[in-house]
Amino acid sequence: MALTAVDNTVELRHRVATRTARIGIVGMGYVGLPLSLLFSEERFRVTGFDIDPHKVETLNRGGSYIVRIPGAEIQRAQQQGFAATEDYAQIAQMDVVIICVPTPLNEYHEPDLSYVTGTVRSIAPHVHEGQLIVLESTTYPGTTEEVMVPLLEAENPSGLRVARDAASRGFYVAFSPEREDPGNDTVARRDIPKVVGGCGPAAAELASSVYSTIFNRTVPVSSPAAAEMTKLLENIYRCVNIALVNELKQLCMRMDIDLFEVIDAAKTKPFGFQPFYPGPGLGGHCIPIDPFYLSWKAKEFDFHTRFIELAGEVNLAMPYFVVENVMEALSQRGKALCGSRVLVLGLAYKRDIDDLRESPSLTIIELLQKRGAQVEYNDPFVPSVGRGRKYALNMTSTPLDRIPEFDCVVIVTDHSQYDYPAIVAKAQLVVDTRNATRGIGAANIVRC
Ligand SMILES: NC(=O)c1ccc[n+]([C@@H]2O[C@H](COP(=O)([O-])OP(=O)(O)OC[C@H]3O[C@@H](n4cnc5c(N)ncnc54)[C@H](O)[C@@H]3O)[C@@H](O)[C@H]2O)c1
Repeated sequence: MALTAVDNTVELRHRVATRTARIGIVGMGYVGLPLSLLFSEERFRVTGFDIDPHKVETLNRGGSYIVRIPGAEIQRAQQQGFAATEDYAQIAQMDVVIICVPTPLNEYHEPDLSYVTGTVRSIAPHVHEGQLIVLESTTYPGTTEEVMVPLLEAENPSGLRVARDAASRGFYVAFSPEREDPGNDTVARRDIPKVVGGCGPAAAELASSVYSTIFNRTVPVSSPAAAEMTKLLENIYRCVNIALVNELKQLCMRMDIDLFEVIDAAKTKPFGFQPFYPGPGLGGHCIPIDPFYLSWKAKEFDFHTRFIELAGEVNLAMPYFVVENVMEALSQRGKALCGSRVLVLGLAYKRDIDDLRESPSLTIIELLQKRGAQVEYNDPFVPSVGRGRKYALNMTSTPLDRIPEFDCVVIVTDHSQYDYPAIVAKAQLVVDTRNATRGIGAANIVRC
């Protein structure tokens, strides 16, 4: 009689199928909180872990700190057992742990994995056999296998090891990148396919079975490194293409050609072209940062990622280009930037969101101030701004009825609730970095 191999994943797969698996999400930010809500909607009991006591307290009283997530959604999740905690000992009660903590760059533009390693060190003592641990934070290929697995194995007191197949005992590890596009309401989160790479096929299958409960399609790849690289390819693709149109915009301005008109014409081609749009510079947690994770890792292989460096150079120069155009537009009207009053419209890094991370508006405000301008801002999503890691503004949003007082209004973020014809009508001068005033023929508009 043939012996059947033991399958240690059966129990977890059964718990997932019956929605009795407990899901722990570490990092209740822009990625982790919406993910928690998706699992709650699927009737899982979810526990959110965060080291920020303010976030934990807000969530536990049914509140939200992300504009597009109403408190009612948190309260609905609470009815399914959702709770937030700072207590890592509760990791022991989880069947699945998904890590969504920040992966920024340090001051030398190198990967800062301290949030990931900090989290892994905190959960390692509570890891148990059969548990699935998934990293979602964007990072360089190799992080899961070279950083996360060794730490989990070294720092868990029971000597548990990663299980590379269903017959082995231990815990399962996978990487699955987050692909959210904040503010994009055209694609439902469920419809975004979920890429999964496991440390072995059993981990990949387990992770796929977990994500299949909340995503319509999962895309298994052969390893965590392939999944890590997939996310970077997606973001590098965007970064390089945005740099291309940012450079072409500068050329088109000299040639007196409207690049937006050109892009609109080009995108009628039914194959081989995807439109990207120029802007005032890159923002957000992903595009300005993630490519440099790969550049850094590439050095280990004596490889220089020239496309990434060049795209970075072009995109980083865009806020300076905007400020030069503001200076030029004012001087054409007989005014110096130094001493002029400038109102920046939009502080968030892109339309209709409240996220300020790496926003080009912050750099533009700082550059304008350094050149002696008196700067204020308006943003319907950001009523006030204090200090961040890279800025100290301490400002509150200026009401739009004060537009006539300013020598120049600079449109940096094209929020859809702005009434652009009304803004142009009231302003002395408008510098538009987003083509938001398209179709408005007025002599006081400078598009750059
Ligand atoms: N925001 C996006 O649109 C987006 C999209 C795709 C991928 N990502 C990636 O997802 C990851 C998370 O990004 P985010 O935007 O959610 O970040 P975020 O800053 O909004 O949230 C991260 C959360 O993790 C918490 N945290 C930090 N260290 C912790 C620890 N040791 N234990 C528990 N919690 C901890 C923070 O307090 C914060 O609440 C990053 O790697 C990012 O690159 C983000």
